[in-house]
Amino acid sequence: MRHLISPSDLSVDELDRILKLGQSIMKNPEKYSHICDGKKLATLFYEPSTRTRLSFEAAMLNLGGKVLGFSSADSSSAAKGESVADTIRIISSYADICAMRHPKEGAPAVAAMYSKIPVINAGDGGHNHPTQTLTDLITIKTLMGRLDNMTIGMCGDLKFGRTVHSLINTMVRYNNVRFILISPRELKIPDYLRQEVLEEGNIDYIETNELEKYMPELDILYMTRVQKERFFNEEDYIRLKDSFILDTTKMKYAKKDMYILHPLPRVNEIAAEIDSDPRAVYFKQAEYGVYVRMALILTLLNY
Ligand code: CP
Repeated sequence: MRHLISPSDLSVDELDRILKLGQSIMKNPEKYSHICDGKKLATLFYEPSTRTRLSFEAAMLNLGGKVLGFSSADSSSAAKGESVADTIRIISSYADICAMRHPKEGAPAVAAMYSKIPVINAGDGGHNHPTQTLTDLITIKTLMGRLDNMTIGMCGDLKFGRTVHSLINTMVRYNNVRFILISPRELKIPDYLRQEVLEEGNIDYIETNELEKYMPELDILYMTRVQKERFFNEEDYIRLKDSFILDTTKMKYAKKDMYILHPLPRVNEIAAEIDSDPRAVYFKQAEYGVYVRMALILTLLNY
């Protein structure tokens, strides 16, 4: 039985197979519409979500399966003090696979230890979000035709942004990928990522707070929201929240074929005027998330 807790749980070959399957589903969804007849997906969301939970549910419904679950800790017995270990023991007899989002880093890994069904990490605190990475990868691969030989700018909250951590951890496994990490000093990537992944992996990267300066070099600009819910005090959040706002003035520095990705939700870090720019692909990215989650469900259920 396989779980997906961290991006490194999948080899590059497995990633490529999942992306190819996702693209095949995208082209011919009808072919896959009954593969999971009789199967159930549980969505255990202890933290708010729009895209991840609903795209997982859409994915299972598109495959012919059914869904059950909860969308907040308050509406589950976690509110009465039940542990993740006990919850997953129970859910293992109600469903065939589950996706879990939890504010505590490592909670889905704990669930996997007690589970009889595949556990998918749908975001754990400020740590990892491997299925957002699959979504990012299928978007890049579909639009650019490759996952190597590129410069990726990551901008915003690189400290608490779990999508950034998972995407860096994954993209370092492809050839000739360079990172420009754009953030305020207080929101730089965590030390473990800089040391154990970038430095030890001998990866080409720059840390800066200058978006315009590096914009002309970027093939992808991955914008992120400042993660209000992870701050210890509101004062710091208010001071940092508007550090980077992408608008048409800044886009004048960008390549004609640079793509703008964002895991969403967006607050105000991308001005609405950018939405009509053909390089803005964040809504398409969210759409692709359904296909790649269908591919992941099929992979973990051994179809
Ligand atoms: N990208 C993402 O995880 O969005 P949600 O928080 O809406 O699931």
